[in-house]
This record gives sequence, C-alpha cells and structure tokens, in this order.
Amino acid sequence: MYVVRPAAAAAAAFLGLALSLLGAGAAAAAPGAPGSPGSPRSTGAPGAPAPASGAATGQQRFLGPVVYSHRGASAYAPENTIDSIDRAMWMGFKWVENDVQRTRDGELVVIHDDSLARTTNVEQLFPDRKPWLVKDFTAAEIARLDAGSWFDPAFAGARVPTLREYMDRVQDNQQRLLLEIKKPELYPGIEEQTLKLLGELGWLDAKHVSQRLVVQSFSADSVRIVHRLRPDLVTAFLGTPTVAELPRYAEFTDRINPWHTTITADWVKAVHGLRGAHGKAMEVDTWIVDDAPTARKVREMGVDGIITNMPDVVREAVGGF
Ligand code: G3P
Ligand code: CA
Repeated sequence: MYVVRPAAAAAAAFLGLALSLLGAGAAAAAPGAPGSPGSPRSTGAPGAPAPASGAATGQQRFLGPVVYSHRGASAYAPENTIDSIDRAMWMGFKWVENDVQRTRDGELVVIHDDSLARTTNVEQLFPDRKPWLVKDFTAAEIARLDAGSWFDPAFAGARVPTLREYMDRVQDNQQRLLLEIKKPELYPGIEEQTLKLLGELGWLDAKHVSQRLVVQSFSADSVRIVHRLRPDLVTAFLGTPTVAELPRYAEFTDRINPWHTTITADWVKAVHGLRGAHGKAMEVDTWIVDDAPTARKVREMGVDGIITNMPDVVREAVGGF
C-alpha cells in the first residue's frame, strides 16, 4: 500500500540539506522562512494592504508550497494515529495536521470524527453505546479501541492517541504541527485546555511558536479565542470568506485555509494582499489535494501550502517541501 518514491524523496532530502547549509533558512524552519509561523512581523495593521508581492517569496516560488500531511500521511497509514505521523516522517515530511477533541473525563485526544464508529472497533466493544460519540467515552475506554484495523489489518492495534502522546511523538520526530481544534462547540474551553497542555509540553516557547506550530479551526470564534489567549501564536481559519469579509478575519488570524474547489487565483491574491493578525501578508494553505493536476493548479493560483493525504504525490507534482 505504501509506495516509496525514491527520486522525489531523495530530491527533497537534498533540497532540505542544501537549504540548511545555506542557512536560507532552512525552508520552513527559520522564523523568517516563508510558510513558517514566525515570518518577520511587520508593523502593518491587520486588514491593511500588504506589500504588492503578497505572501509568495522567491524561495517559495523556487521550492513550491509547504506540504502538510493531512491527519498524518493518511493515505498510507490510519489517520490521526502515531503510525500516520511516523509515516510522514519516513517520507520526509515535517508538517503534519491533526484534529483535537475531548473525552468524557476531559482528556484531549486526536481523532477527526465526533463519533468513534468510522475509525475504530468501538461498535464491537461497546455495542450498546450508539452513536459512540468521543465526548461520551472516557480516555480509558478509548485507549482500548483498535484504530488501525479499519484501515488495514497490518495496522491492527493502533490507538487513538491522546494529544499528550501525539505531541511527544511529533517532538521526537522533530516534526511541526498544524493543529485543528475540531468541533469546539462540543467542548467548551477546549482552546484554553489545548494551549495549557501545549505550554506544559514546551510547545509554547519562542522556538516552537515561531517555527513549529499553527492552530486552526473551522470555527472563527475558536480561532479568535486562541488569538486572544496567545497573541503570539500563528492561527488559521478554515473556510473561504468572501473578499469583502477578509479584513474582519485579518483581525485574529494569519491564514485563510480553504477547500481547494472554492478558490480562484484572484481570491488567493486578495488574501495575500492583506496584512493578517501579525501584520504580515496573509497566507493560504488549501486542502485536500491528492492528485498532481490539482496540485499544479493550486500552485499556479499562488497558494502557500497544500494539505494532503498523499504528500509524496504533491511533492512530486509541485516540488513542495
Ligand atoms: O486541514 C484542513 C482539513 O483538515 C479540514 O478538513 O474535515 O479533514 O478536518 P477536515
Ligand atoms: Ca483536520
């Protein structure tokens, strides 16, 4: 099932090494690198026009967009598991995306659906607990579930990770995280709780904040709360506001992350043309792009990042990193 693309992986590895040696900054590593959270902050006010060049930089035009492994390398390993982020790392990808929700007893866990039914064997273990909502199960109950067999028997025994376990692995793998607060309306206070845990784990120090962490949500309210609690954090709003609405979003977010079918080059340009919450040109990371023609199309539109289940396919198509 897992297809190694040696040429592309080697090219990406070489490119990464070259950039590190050049100090260029280490694509997506140095605070000033394009696509990195801590790109230089300008003094421009949120919503004010950004410099004409927008968010795209020479480096990004050369290297291609930042590639985010969606729910990990989820075409090749069960989504949102430790296996999926390990797989992304082995394929040479630094940035992973995940989804954070909360158990009945208050543990943060990494899972996409608000029900455990699709991605675990919960129906077998707890047949009388329909609709098997994450918020109705304790962490201990969820820890018993098999989150791998539904995807492939080879992954039997994979678990729904707690956010703590997940972050430990992201740290060990030296990866970077696009963290999505999923369905925050179900979990009052999840923003504060998530930030508290990230702080305890050392992910809110200057280095992590500037290089390795972005927090996003489909809920504008949730993104606004994160920005209020930690104004230094880079945030993203998931959706496609109209051009007229963009300045309002620029007050509390740095990025607008839309479904790829909803955007045009003009819209991307309009986003790039505004300064975000930290005073620099807003960026666009689009999802879910799993084929080469679409990857090339959105790159032509000028997106800064591509969120994908098949990071190898995107890298091969557009040379992203
Ligand atoms: O990161 C973008 C993407 O995750 C949004 O959709 O439903 O997969 O969380 P979804
Ligand atoms: Ca997500």
